[in-house]
Amino acid sequence: MIRFASTDSRRETGNIKWDLQGPLPFGIADMDIESPPCVVDALQQRLNHRFYGYAFMTDELREAICAYLTRNHGVQAPRPEWLHALPGCVPAFTLVARSVCRQPEHEIMVCTPVYPPMLHCHEDANCSLLQVPYANVNGRWEFDWEAMEAAVSPNTKMFLLCNPHNPLGRVWSREDILRLAEFCERHDMILCSDEIHCDLVLDEDKKHTTALNLPEPLLQRVVMLSAPSKTFNIAGICFTYMAVPNQLLLATIRKIQGHTLPTLNVFAYAASLAAYRHGWDWHKKLLATLRTNRHTVYDFIASELPMLKVRHMEATYLAWIDCSALGVESPHDFFLEKADVFLDDGANFGDPQCVRLNFATSPELLRTGLEAIKAAVQAHLSHE
Ligand SMILES: Cc1ncc(COP(=O)(O)O)c(C=O)c1O
Repeated sequence: MIRFASTDSRRETGNIKWDLQGPLPFGIADMDIESPPCVVDALQQRLNHRFYGYAFMTDELREAICAYLTRNHGVQAPRPEWLHALPGCVPAFTLVARSVCRQPEHEIMVCTPVYPPMLHCHEDANCSLLQVPYANVNGRWEFDWEAMEAAVSPNTKMFLLCNPHNPLGRVWSREDILRLAEFCERHDMILCSDEIHCDLVLDEDKKHTTALNLPEPLLQRVVMLSAPSKTFNIAGICFTYMAVPNQLLLATIRKIQGHTLPTLNVFAYAASLAAYRHGWDWHKKLLATLRTNRHTVYDFIASELPMLKVRHMEATYLAWIDCSALGVESPHDFFLEKADVFLDDGANFGDPQCVRLNFATSPELLRTGLEAIKAAVQAHLSHE
């Protein structure tokens, strides 16, 4: 069963969304939905053990992840030794950038708009960022292959991909992933593929294509990153895995990591093992809930707020809303000031006229938020 947080039950728990985003929080990507019972049970059991010493990623967990990659994503023969555990996806792609871009002139190519830390990891890696905007092709976001070819140079060492895409909600096709890997091969780049949203494909006729399904020799340039954190709403547990088929590349990454990151905690492993093994019935219900909420967002915006533009979201629980018709400098500030609604600021993703709405919440709160947005927009338009 899917259990939503009751009103205010997440307040004063040290949660970013509920304690830092004001009365109606719709920012940051965690859900107002209880983690699956199998995860809670596993954590309780681990807690009761009363010993919380240094832990490692056991063969059991490696095998559970490999089995899931085959069962859920069709990966032919994933190897347990490809996997490397890290405390988060952001430190993971930052580490890959540090491992691959070794000179200040080396570049990471990223298509925009995109999840904000991807626009900043070059700062930690002491290298450069090369941004190429996505193209709007008949109302759909697509890679701009021509612009990418024009921008790439011998200094471009890594492509940082977000698949499924946050915030555009795109599920890149098999052809897209193959073409991107061939682009990386042609220009001798590593393809770092952040697939943290891979289990949140909402369109029933779409399937996630993992970069781990690329053929050889393309597979040798892939670093795939994923986690149970979005799928099972356990971001605070801090477990990410990196899958690197090229063992020399993995050895380099481990060497660059050195002692800069902590070993993971016992709870991260217990929760992840339980989720990958037993969380899938719950996950099916989660997808149904998210589809209903997605429909509410579309429906409300189309009928009540047609001046705001939201495109079809194939995946994730994040709606990317174009507010340029409002004619305000910062839609994020506008909604916070006039509606008490916190929406993530598109400026941080590369488009200041957009906001991102997290719709993984109760139907009641979602409707309250949308009504508050509508009231603010109506008041604004009537004063124009
Ligand atoms: C694409 C993407 N990557 C990474 C993260 C965060 O990963 P972590 O919390 O594991 O660092 C998010 C969170 O929203 C995300 O959307």
